Amino acid sequence: MDGERRTVFITGASRGIGHATATYFVRRGWRAITCSREPVPPQCPRNERHAHITIDLADTERLPEAVARLEALLDGQPLHALVNNAGYSPKHPDGSRIGCLDGEMTLWERVFRINFFAPVYFSRACAPLLAKSRGAIVNITSIAGHRVHPFAGSAYSTSKAALTALTRELAADLAHLGIRVNAVCPGEINTAILSPGTEALVERIPLRRLGSPEEVASVIFYLCGEEASYITGAEIPVNGGQDVY
Ligand SMILES: NC(=O)c1ccc[n+]([C@@H]2O[C@H](COP(=O)([O-])OP(=O)(O)OC[C@H]3O[C@@H](n4cnc5c(N)ncnc54)[C@H](OP(=O)(O)O)[C@@H]3O)[C@@H](O)[C@H]2O)c1
Repeated sequence: MDGERRTVFITGASRGIGHATATYFVRRGWRAITCSREPVPPQCPRNERHAHITIDLADTERLPEAVARLEALLDGQPLHALVNNAGYSPKHPDGSRIGCLDGEMTLWERVFRINFFAPVYFSRACAPLLAKSRGAIVNITSIAGHRVHPFAGSAYSTSKAALTALTRELAADLAHLGIRVNAVCPGEINTAILSPGTEALVERIPLRRLGSPEEVASVIFYLCGEEASYITGAEIPVNGGQDVY
């Protein structure tokens, strides 16, 4: 792929990890096509290397529209990577977690539409494009998909566990197309998604601090590149060492 401009499609890039990831790729010469409900923030790179699609990923019926916009923006050029990053983690008004017995079913459905069904849809829709470039998919899962978390709710955590399983299934099913599929599994990263009180968790993190969005972006970038050419079906924790206990 040397010499060719590479393009990444990143969901949920209006802030946080997605915004940091778009910036990370663009600074390294990639073109980024992003999507979220809000436009990209002013500090996001705004030039010919960054295009944005405005869409609510919970609106499942509009997902084909987003893919049509993506294809129009690509204009026949290859797509090299898909990053399923957008995520929704609802809490009670006081910031506490919404457990299995809480929340309307419509809330559970909204969480699964954004965190799970959008990645299913985009992975399926982008597979033919990624096959042409022997590209990569990276899903952003969560530590909450692997253990009960003090703030992350049950709908969120189960949707992320499903995304971990989807990563494995996609890796198996897309390998013959030359597409690698991996996940990055953040712990506590300093973004708007965190609940008030997260600071109290820091003393349980071996590195004794929250992670930065850029520390997640660099791992996503690695998994999309040639350096990771023999890695598929993996889930890389970015959590300051929380798995050691
Ligand atoms: N921060 C952490 O500690 C942490 C830990 C584990 C996993 N994660 C995962 O990392 C990913 C990024 O999270 P973050 O921390 O960067 O959170 P964030 O700052 O809240 O950003 C979430 C992004 O998702 C987009 N999004 C949410 N709902 C959407 C919808 N209905 N349609 C389209 N886009 C939507 C948001 O854009 P709009 O609001 O503009 O639509 C925003 O760009 C998520 O999948 C999250 O679950 C984060």
